[in-house]
Amino acid sequence: MSAAMRIATPSDRRDSPVNILGIAGDPATRELMAQAVGRSDDVARIVVGTAETALSQFELGAAPAILLLDLSTSADALADLTRIVAAASETKIIALGAMNDVGLFRDLIRAGASDYLVKPFTPASLEAAIAAVAQNREPVDLSRPRLGKLVLFVGTRGGVGTTTCAVNTAWLLAEELGQRTALVDLDLHFGTVALSLDIDPGRGLREALAQPMRIDSLFIDRAMVRQGDRLAVLSAEEPVEEEAEIASNAIEILLYELRQKFDWVIVDLPRGLIGEMDALLASITHAAIITEPTLAGLRDAIRLDAFLKSTAAGARLLTIDGGAGRAPRSPVSRAEFEKGFGRKLDFTFPFDAKAALAGANAGRPLAVVAGTSPAAQAARDLAVAFAGPGQSRAKSSLWQRFAKRVPHDAHS
Ligand SMILES: Nc1ncnc2c1ncn2[C@@H]1O[C@H](COP(=O)(O)OP(=O)(O)OP(=O)(O)O)[C@@H](O)[C@H]1O
Ligand SMILES: [Mg+2]
Repeated sequence: MSAAMRIATPSDRRDSPVNILGIAGDPATRELMAQAVGRSDDVARIVVGTAETALSQFELGAAPAILLLDLSTSADALADLTRIVAAASETKIIALGAMNDVGLFRDLIRAGASDYLVKPFTPASLEAAIAAVAQNREPVDLSRPRLGKLVLFVGTRGGVGTTTCAVNTAWLLAEELGQRTALVDLDLHFGTVALSLDIDPGRGLREALAQPMRIDSLFIDRAMVRQGDRLAVLSAEEPVEEEAEIASNAIEILLYELRQKFDWVIVDLPRGLIGEMDALLASITHAAIITEPTLAGLRDAIRLDAFLKSTAAGARLLTIDGGAGRAPRSPVSRAEFEKGFGRKLDFTFPFDAKAALAGANAGRPLAVVAGTSPAAQAARDLAVAFAGPGQSRAKSSLWQRFAKRVPHDAHS
């Protein structure tokens, strides 16, 4: 904690009231809060509890200068916050919660919170929020959501076109739709995102995952490989014989930091890892399941869809035929697939070997090497469906050109 953020000086510690009170919903959050406020027990008290705990602390005469209030276990966050504001009008409140919801964010700010951080958060981001409140700076920009969207691309099978979809969506969001976009390849050994864009994988992802406490805005600026003004990539090419070192919570912390800087964070996830990614899944806003029209593709689309519905309950799920896994005569027709799947596919990429080959050979996105090809058009549809018409920079031309192809329910 920097000097600028300290509320009490050593000389006034002895009899001073608690200056920062942290009410954490669980021990893990308490730990993060403790790291954020530093080691000074004299000025900070962090306990596991609820809004009731905060109120009972106030009754003991301990209304703090700053209250860190974890509302994630609260049945009615707004009501709890309102009661606390009424009981301690001088206290600055930094609310914390699990819901990444702009509506809730605005309501909490209007009800009197100074800031709202969405879990998972890092000690550094909480520390920065405390500093901002302590300095009476207004940390809140009500005009835009604080965290970017987090989109997971996962294939039901190998080679169905997952990376092609992820890379092209990210590139189009950045280049044609004006969105600040981060693209992360979590296949640390065999990922092909960097190869698809003909860039060096760099060491940034490896360093971030090994030492997540180093991750901050500066680290990200240095570690990411830039592709144009708005697209930045994190990937790796770990030696085949070496196990990748991933510290606990590292992926969660990295993605959270990225979401603070980028409008979109696109993750290409090897499906073998999905079962271990609880924290990631709980925070994604969208998931694209890329599949193929085969029995195995159908079976695993059903399984992944069911799994994501239970683990990523708040996320919008899209199921996409990636095109790459389509034999000239598909063993399962689209109608059969959709009947078995129980609903329509959200997108279908055409099998477009010419465009795919041109892109792979040049290490460039489809929109660059084969801009008018069916595969590039499908990639544009998908990117526009993610961004939505309201966020399209080229609203008048691009949006009108593609709007008719976009399923309405794909908008976030
Ligand atoms: N729509 C398409 N039509 C034809 N070929 C395609 C299409 N999309 C991708 N391809 C090609 O198919 C191959 C596999 O694509 P890609 O790497 O995107 O698949 P993946 O599902 O990510 O594979 P992996 O399981 O190895 O990660 C690549 O050679 C790519 O150029
Ligand atoms: Mg891939």
